[in-house]
Amino acid sequence: MAGSGTAHLRGDGALLSVEDLVVEYPTSSGTVQAVSKISFDVMAGETLGIVGESGCGKSTTGRAVLRLDRVTSGRIRFGEEWIEQADESRMRTLRRDMQMIFQDPVASLNPRRSVKDIVVEGLAVAGAPAAEKASTSAAVLEQVGLSGERYAEMLPRNLSGGQAQRVAIARALALNPRLLICDEPVSALDVSVQAQILNLIEELKAEFDLTVVFIAHDLGVVRTVSDNVMVMYLGKVCEFGDSVEVYDDPAHPYTRALLDSVPLTDPDKGFAGPALEGDVPSPLAPPTGCRFRTRCPLAQDKCAAEEPKMREVRPGQFAACHFPLAAAS
Ligand SMILES: Nc1ncnc2c1ncn2[C@@H]1O[C@H](COP(=O)(O)OP(=O)(O)OP(=O)(O)O)[C@@H](O)[C@H]1O
Ligand SMILES: [Mg+2]
Repeated sequence: MAGSGTAHLRGDGALLSVEDLVVEYPTSSGTVQAVSKISFDVMAGETLGIVGESGCGKSTTGRAVLRLDRVTSGRIRFGEEWIEQADESRMRTLRRDMQMIFQDPVASLNPRRSVKDIVVEGLAVAGAPAAEKASTSAAVLEQVGLSGERYAEMLPRNLSGGQAQRVAIARALALNPRLLICDEPVSALDVSVQAQILNLIEELKAEFDLTVVFIAHDLGVVRTVSDNVMVMYLGKVCEFGDSVEVYDDPAHPYTRALLDSVPLTDPDKGFAGPALEGDVPSPLAPPTGCRFRTRCPLAQDKCAAEEPKMREVRPGQFAACHFPLAAAS
């Protein structure tokens, strides 16, 4: 049974459900609660964007779903199965269906292997015959726009960042996954290449019937690709909803501040608001009540005394805030 702050869960039809997930890392100076009781659903076929400043727990969330990080508490359902306690052998099987691509594509590729072998690493582990590996390798490389001998024999160090990310995407596709978790897949790439990789992910999503979790701190990037967006701050979810609504009319002051700190590309729209002031507090000692209150322009006494629960502040738009922003329209 889901605990507090799960009002935004959408239940049936979700390919992935996360309930009250907590991930803690022990460090020499204490325990970091990187993810602190978060809940969300990802509906089959949708793209969920996860945004927030560095250190808010985005990657930890993605890694925990794949059980690459230890889950301290909470539940994770993938398809029909609760997987938070699944053993490593079961997870190895499940991870064929749940693939992840990372920010630094070159580092995520085995430096000593050729491109054609890298993309079928997962099939090789599963004991696929050589002919299947060869045909899958050629097919997925073509899907990502790297067909031909030239790329097949290359080593990762000779690839550009964009090409390396294409190889990482091809490697994920080779296993025919249902869920693709993209952790800042374009942050390390030149702006001109970013759009190509985003388009590729969009095309492949439709073609392979993928469900996508798209992690980024660049709101502009998330906006273009996401159906729904989840805004995180210091290990918590602040806001969740349809990405157009959340961007056009944020309900949580943190979402507003994040949007205001994005440089505007359209000069007719005037200046963006002030950048977010102050540093994110230490996750070793998060503020009481609302974690954003120490930087929130609207904070009142109640925000320190009581943690705000996630609630529907407008139809389909959920925020964990005692004093959500009024709708502009
Ligand atoms: N292995 C680890 N050991 C200790 N603390 C960790 C570890 N991994 C992450 N953390 C801490 O957990 C918190 C969340 O980290 P996480 O990497 O999930 O953030 P993020 O939102 O992905 O940030 P970024 O945008 O920089 O990638 C941070 O405070 C981070 O320092
Ligand atoms: Mg990260």
